[in-house]
Amino acid sequence: MPITPELYNAQIDNEDIQVDAWADTPLLQSLEEGGVDWPSSCRNGTCRTCVGRLKSGSVHYEIEWPGLSAEDKEAGCILPCVAYPDGNVVLMRGEY
Ligand code: FES
Repeated sequence: MPITPELYNAQIDNEDIQVDAWADTPLLQSLEEGGVDWPSSCRNGTCRTCVGRLKSGSVHYEIEWPGLSAEDKEAGCILPCVAYPDGNVVLMRGEY
């Protein structure tokens, strides 16, 4: 029997937006499926077009080194096209 992935929610800070965010789905895809207009281009973690910041929650990546520096990560930057939620998350648009 297939295991159903965990379902979390993703909110956009300062916007009245909340979407379903499945644990096995990149956040960008969940945002788009929820009707959120979020910038994207490469969708593979290199171009940084989709960059945002985490206000709360955490994510993980399945690629070795998404296009983020250690400083970016410390500042809470994430690349939603390749980021998977570990729980409920609150996102902010843009870089720091
Ligand atoms: S769309 Fe290019 S890094 Fe996310």
